[in-house]
Amino acid sequence: MVQRVATVAFEGVDARPVDVQVQVAPGLPAFNLVGLADKAVNEAKERVRAALTASGLALPAKRITVNLAPADLPKEGSHYDLPIALGLMAAIGALPSDALDGFTVVGELALDGRLAAVAGVLPAAIGADARGHGLICPAACGPEAAWASPEMPVLAPATLIELVNHFSGRQVLSRPEPGLEPEGAPLPDLADVKGQESAKRALEIAAAGRHNLLFIGPPGAGKSMLAQRLPSILPPLAPAELLEVSMIASVAGTLQGGTLTSRRPFRAPHHSASMAAMVGGGMRARPGEVSLAHNGVLFLDELPEFQPAVLDSLRQPLETGEAVIARANHRITYPARFQLVAAMNPCRCGHAGQPGHSCRRGPRCAADYQARLSGPLLDRIDLHLEVPAVAAVDLVRPAPAEPSAAVAARVAAARSIQRERFVRLGRPDLSSNAQAAGPLLEAIAAPDAAGTALLSDAARIMRLSARGYHRVLRVARTLADLAGAESVGRAHLAEALAYRASADRAAAAA
Ligand SMILES: Nc1ncnc2c1ncn2[C@@H]1O[C@H](COP(=O)(O)OP(=O)(O)O)[C@@H](O)[C@H]1O
Ligand SMILES: [Mg+2]
Repeated sequence: MVQRVATVAFEGVDARPVDVQVQVAPGLPAFNLVGLADKAVNEAKERVRAALTASGLALPAKRITVNLAPADLPKEGSHYDLPIALGLMAAIGALPSDALDGFTVVGELALDGRLAAVAGVLPAAIGADARGHGLICPAACGPEAAWASPEMPVLAPATLIELVNHFSGRQVLSRPEPGLEPEGAPLPDLADVKGQESAKRALEIAAAGRHNLLFIGPPGAGKSMLAQRLPSILPPLAPAELLEVSMIASVAGTLQGGTLTSRRPFRAPHHSASMAAMVGGGMRARPGEVSLAHNGVLFLDELPEFQPAVLDSLRQPLETGEAVIARANHRITYPARFQLVAAMNPCRCGHAGQPGHSCRRGPRCAADYQARLSGPLLDRIDLHLEVPAVAAVDLVRPAPAEPSAAVAARVAAARSIQRERFVRLGRPDLSSNAQAAGPLLEAIAAPDAAGTALLSDAARIMRLSARGYHRVLRVARTLADLAGAESVGRAHLAEALAYRASADRAAAAA
């Protein structure tokens, strides 16, 4: 007789149903696992054997065959231990044979019969709920699984014995409560930054329209400090976004204690990050930094120091909002819609263009350094801003700086204007000006007469490319939204052009 247990395999953040089939048949004692399982899955045999022994159950001296169906779907990860063990227990009569009906099972086993946390419980629970199943998962993942639906049954035992006792009626496992992270430590606040009014303004515009942003300036100017304060002015995650972010974190195994948080992700990978770390992939398919920053911020400090191939790999997610990872025999897609904030020194030594500084390597130093960034990448960054070092006087007796909360309120107002406009235009899938392109952008950002005149002059004098032109329009639309203005005027365009001008100077230097 074949015992069947439902579990899942992950494809991106989707949980595909997998059927674990266990057969215990007369024959020479053996334990075979088939069905396109990777190394970690194959090791399940040893963990299952040890965990069952520790729980007082010996494997029968028979021929055991475990099949993971469908056989053509690749199986990765350690969450197959528990479904295999439960299938075997049902096959040898340690569990009622119908106990597992209507449950999807995920979990890793320790040698002593305890259940260890696994990645991807949230998508597994959502997949199970969609099929009308309940979920059996390790106790540590219970709070995460409980998020999927308030109605679905969730069993989260700490050990195999607890589960056996539950099914035999000797102990009742109560449903875990969904966990939400408490507010936690406050985020770094913009009020800490003295002076730097134009950089703060750029940060506000970037937050309001979700524009990508590049700070260029000498070391110590406060570029990293400013970028780290972006999360404090961004609106909290909407419920749908929260779920998307948590699904990715769950698959990546980074949901701490199974609790979800409404804070936008802020990822700041080091410049030595590999391509696999950045876009995902590697030995076992895992979301990369671009996906962990989904619906949040990806901060790349010292941008030119990243490997050129790694920077190039950002172009596709920046364009499509997805990271596609090619594997040996299939491809995986993770969501990756992030806001890019980058910072760089103007040259390797960091002081090019500073008054009174002359570089040993001459003007080539800055040119060579900036040439490490490809035009197509820079083209996808709407706001380029030069951040000069703050003068010591400004640090000593600063004017009182505005706290993040005040800026966040303006950002939230501008965002809701954008959302309403996109809904009115029949594009509820869009939420920020940075996402608008082509005809839609030209429709929402059509300047008034004075603005049109300025723009056509500027396009001629600055020799704006089509992309450059659209970038100016996008930023100008956000500036108008921040000001609560219905149409894009001359002043908005003039300010937007200023963020463009520094980009052109950087490009000309390259
Ligand atoms: N405008 C500023 N207001 C307050 N402190 C500043 C400012 N600019 C720089 N600092 C101080 O200088 C330090 C270095 O800033 P940082 O952001 O690391 O510079 P950068 O990334 O531009 O090299 C900060 O930790 C902060 O203490
Ligand atoms: Mg820095």
